[in-house]
Amino acid sequence: MAFTIAIDGPAAAGKGTIGRALSRHFGFAHLDTGLLYRATGRRTLDGLAPVEAAQTLRAEDLDADDLRTPEVSQAASRVAAIPEVRQALLDFQRAFARRAGGAVLDGRDIGTVICPEAEVKLFVTASDTERARRRHKEMCESGHAVTLEEVRDDLRQRDARDSARAAAPLKPAEDALMLDTSEMSIEEAVAAAVAAVDAARG
Ligand code: CDP
Repeated sequence: MAFTIAIDGPAAAGKGTIGRALSRHFGFAHLDTGLLYRATGRRTLDGLAPVEAAQTLRAEDLDADDLRTPEVSQAASRVAAIPEVRQALLDFQRAFARRAGGAVLDGRDIGTVICPEAEVKLFVTASDTERARRRHKEMCESGHAVTLEEVRDDLRQRDARDSARAAAPLKPAEDALMLDTSEMSIEEAVAAAVAAVDAARG
């Protein structure tokens, strides 16, 4: 039986952490759709044209170890504004969303474009300061030498570009549950998300 949890929200709001926790809790498959755009953006830095990069994306491209750098984040957000790039990645995401056994997808347009019929839609946010602090800590812990200022600039620029674009802009679905995690621990945010899914499953 298909059951889709759609998680959207601005950069570094905690979508991935909540998505992974929900997938473990409910035994659902998880797709971090940002990786598709990051891998596409990464390939354009090697000289490929964006649409070709998306159309010929391979599974191993998602394993590159530098997909989290601010440079690749920016490239991801630039290619993500191109309708043909989004189109090339659409079928894979839709099929994943409706696979048997349940799926959690996190991104920007999951509840609005990829899977408007999702059984649960969450829009996860946190204050700009808190998102920059969390992402900076995460990057430092994974060995990336970036300053808090660089992280803040990356988030600000991407949120502005992702919200302003015409193709599948970042915005909550009308029926999304808003989850502001600024003042929440990871455990509290996950518990709130689990409760929302439990309520929908009945
Ligand atoms: O992890 P973070 O929230 O910083 O970003 P991400 O989810 O990995 O997404 C990287 C970029 O890909 C975003 O800034 C968007 O431009 C783009 N993206 C998108 O347009 N649509 C999605 N469903 C997921 C990501």
